[in-house]
Amino acid sequence: METALLLPSAETYSRASEILSGGGLVAFPTETVYGLGANALDSNAVLSVFAAKGRPADNPLIVHIHDQAQLEPLCTLPEGAQELMDAFWPGPLTILCNKKPVVPDTVTAGLPTVAVRMPSHPVARALLQACNLPVAAPSANSSGRPSPTTAAHVMEDMKGKIPLIIDGGMCDVGVESTVLDLCHGDPVVLRPGGITPGMISSVLGRNVQIAGSVLRPLRENETALSPGMRYKHYAPHAVVTLVEGPSERVVPLLRKLSLEQEADGVKSCVLCFTEHVDQLSDCRPHDIGSFSDPSEIAHRLFDVLRKLDEEGMEAVFSEVIPPEGVGLAVMNRLGRAAAFRTIKA
Ligand code: TXA
Ligand code: MG
Repeated sequence: METALLLPSAETYSRASEILSGGGLVAFPTETVYGLGANALDSNAVLSVFAAKGRPADNPLIVHIHDQAQLEPLCTLPEGAQELMDAFWPGPLTILCNKKPVVPDTVTAGLPTVAVRMPSHPVARALLQACNLPVAAPSANSSGRPSPTTAAHVMEDMKGKIPLIIDGGMCDVGVESTVLDLCHGDPVVLRPGGITPGMISSVLGRNVQIAGSVLRPLRENETALSPGMRYKHYAPHAVVTLVEGPSERVVPLLRKLSLEQEADGVKSCVLCFTEHVDQLSDCRPHDIGSFSDPSEIAHRLFDVLRKLDEEGMEAVFSEVIPPEGVGLAVMNRLGRAAAFRTIKA
């Protein structure tokens, strides 16, 4: 199959709408990452999303809408959902709601809940409006690879598998949306993202829990609250190790670890803050952004992780940031890329 890469335009949206209504797939930018969309009400179209990604069938998809009125036939809202939608939509917050029968089980992997979100990216909004369908869309990467934050990343993974990618430039947030469960008692963040637990808590006026597996591996026999948390994810081919501690100790240790690997013939590099690039100039520094700007680190992270593979890195040593605010989302993704392997400096 030829994969067209088109800039947003009225013609692009009408071609994309035709593809979606005909049961085909379209990749499109959102403010978080690129999504791989299908008509959420068409079970066969949804199955082809799983096929294109190589995604396990038991990992459910998020349904994207442009107007809250689209929710009525799809689901009922748990307590607190309306307030959060009013506060943060359109934006990077996904909320689990109670599914109605019209939503195919292929979308929800048989779960009684359906995840819904209203993206804020103008291209996503225009597409959702033009097709006027609820669109089921996971991130547009092959399963297991870092999520795509540019159209070129999508092309790397989806070339020949889908008919159309809409190129909206680089995604702003850079990590996927916050996934929030309000259906099972206390609010629980299943996956941290741009809307932080603190922001949610201040709207609900209640405490917000964070799922245990956000900053550590799932324990044996522990069930994942969000099926996506079970899988190896965001991981480059290299063995990634996180190094934490005061920066006057971290920076020399990063350098030592990386140079030791190189001496053993293992291609190695460091992921470091902008402020430390000069000090690490002899160990292939990859600038993840300033330590004072976690949003910038989120914005760049997946692009940096993909580059590691392009460059054939085998061992990578990375700085860490405090898991607070957007830093929680960054450390969740970086932690999983490293299988939570950490050394204290
Ligand atoms: O920012 C985003 O959320 C992007 C853009 C394209 O919107 N989408 C995205 O989708 O990241 P995906 O499929 O890569 O991640 C969806 C996550 C998975 O971890 C999945 O397990 C979880 O949401 N999820 C979806 N429906 C769920 C449900 N009913 N219950 C629990 N977790 C659910
Ligand atoms: Mg994904």
